[in-house]
Amino acid sequence: MGQVSGKVAIVTGAASGIGRASALVLAREGAAVVATDIDRDGLASLEREIRDGGGKVLTLEHDVVDEDRWIAVVADAEQTFCGLHILVNNAGIGIAGPVWEMTLADWRRQNAINLDGVFLGTKHAIPAMRRAGSGSIIIISSVAGLKGAPGLAGYCATKGGVRLFAKAVAGECARAGDRIRVNSIHPGVIETAIWNKVSSGADSLAGAGQVGAVVANRIDPAILAQAIVPGGVLGQPTDIANAVLFLASDAAAYVSGAELAVDHAQSAI
Ligand SMILES: NC(=O)c1ccc[n+]([C@@H]2O[C@H](COP(=O)([O-])OP(=O)(O)OC[C@H]3O[C@@H](n4cnc5c(N)ncnc54)[C@H](O)[C@@H]3O)[C@@H](O)[C@H]2O)c1
Repeated sequence: MGQVSGKVAIVTGAASGIGRASALVLAREGAAVVATDIDRDGLASLEREIRDGGGKVLTLEHDVVDEDRWIAVVADAEQTFCGLHILVNNAGIGIAGPVWEMTLADWRRQNAINLDGVFLGTKHAIPAMRRAGSGSIIIISSVAGLKGAPGLAGYCATKGGVRLFAKAVAGECARAGDRIRVNSIHPGVIETAIWNKVSSGADSLAGAGQVGAVVANRIDPAILAQAIVPGGVLGQPTDIANAVLFLASDAAAYVSGAELAVDHAQSAI
């Protein structure tokens, strides 16, 4: 019996990195997984891997800024797997650079994916989770949602925003007595493709330029971790997926409104 057997989960940004690892771990532990992303090829390879492992999966193309797609994705989850119990609001981007160089268009694009996407998912998942009788909403924030990271002001605004959004919605659901829990996870430096994409202004990111972590205009997370993580340890997507599994499972039945740093003590000292 898996730790989330019989539950149905939506994971956004599931084609890569932390979302992909979360989808794999939830499927391995018995959940039926609705894996969504804008990257169709990445979804296809995830689907093969889950099916090969004997898991249940439905992959859907889904841009988290699109409210109509959210409504359709939640309806698909309920129709295909008869309910919805877990939402992992994971899709996100990072746009680096000092605030005086950030364009309003980039600021808004990052807000749309990292903040609006989380709002829309949470809003549309709650009625389905109420129909299912309980739920767990997990929001992937960041250490950059716990403390300021120079070079990532816009990203910090989104990740700090979802941290308090999670707590407020946790309180709303607890008061409503609907057995829906809401928590945030704060990853440290994790080895994923996001670091290849944080190109503009990479030099300024949390001192990455000073510590030699910028190589060919991309950030090398191993070098960054050496410099800013206690003990120099680089995290893996599975480290975050295991925290997702705990919060998704009934082992966390009394955990709501919490923020879980998974960062090898980066934010602790
Ligand atoms: N990697 C890290 O060190 C780290 C640290 C802290 C927080 N995070 C957060 O973890 C989450 C996952 O990041 P990751 O590191 O796995 O990155 P990643 O780039 O490997 O994966 C992100 C996924 O989100 C998808 N995505 C992007 N925009 C989307 C949109 N509009 N709609 C749907 N999907 C979209 C991408 O296609 C990609 O598959 C993000 O919210 C990120 O901010 C990552």
